[in-house]
Amino acid sequence: MAETLSPGELQFVCNSYDIVGDIAIIRVSEEARMFCKAVAEAIMAVHKNVKTVLAQMSPVLGDFRLRKLEHVAGENKTATVHRESKCLFSVDVEKCYFSPRLFFERMRVARLVENGEVVVNMFSGVGCFSIITAKHSSAQKVYSIDVNRSAIQYLKENVRLNRVYGKVIPLLGDAKEVVETKLCHVADRVLMPLPEKALEYLPYALLALKKTGGWIHFYYFEHAKKNENPVEKVKAKVAEKLENLGVVFEIPYGRVVRTTGPNWYQTVLDIRAVP
Ligand SMILES: C[S@@+](CC[C@H](N)C(=O)[O-])C[C@H]1O[C@@H](n2cnc3c(N)ncnc32)[C@H](O)[C@@H]1O
Repeated sequence: MAETLSPGELQFVCNSYDIVGDIAIIRVSEEARMFCKAVAEAIMAVHKNVKTVLAQMSPVLGDFRLRKLEHVAGENKTATVHRESKCLFSVDVEKCYFSPRLFFERMRVARLVENGEVVVNMFSGVGCFSIITAKHSSAQKVYSIDVNRSAIQYLKENVRLNRVYGKVIPLLGDAKEVVETKLCHVADRVLMPLPEKALEYLPYALLALKKTGGWIHFYYFEHAKKNENPVEKVKAKVAEKLENLGVVFEIPYGRVVRTTGPNWYQTVLDIRAVP
């Protein structure tokens, strides 16, 4: 872009973008709006497989975790097929949450799953964690809940694309209600990939676990100053909640999954609990 924009203009151009299938999603500040087309052309010149460039016009919002998108260049579309860890994900990025940034975390979890495990994914979206787990482990079943009807439609399509019929089970509804009515004490492992609701829904993750106990993968956003450790801060919050619930637990592992803003981190804890 140094060839098309001046150094003064370049400072407004955000240099991080996501590629989902053949769609690139760019973030644009108010000041950089007029350079959108130039940014899109630069991305399409570098990534020959990108057919569409969309601009993200809002943060990820609401229960469905969606963002407002605007077409900038190329084909005017929002649906695509993304490839990750030898799996295919059909998704409409306007109607469903999708982040290609969690690919390492999804494989990390899939590799922990042991033969014959029953997994409950409380917030499955179009099924990235669920399908990668089904494909790369010998899990018996991966129950996959989402409250967004479009996400469940795409999940069903992805079950077909990846041939995991009978192994990944899509369930539409609020995770609290679905666990209470259909999935009490069935799981060896529960995934909670919705940081905003993880603490509130923790009692339902415990309810889904077998009475003999199991694992919970708990995702959470935490603020931490330079001298603070975000993972330790989350551990303290979760430990307090679990102690109040009278649960026997240990938290042998935690890590920062990614940085989400200045002093903000997405973290994960692997919790072993007996409900
Ligand atoms: C951050 S996304 C994660 C999606 C997916 N696990 C992934 O990695 O692509 C969270 C998902 O939770 C869903 N969701 C939000 N509230 C929910 C609830 N109460 N019960 C079930 N799903 C919910 C949203 O629709 C969204 O698809």
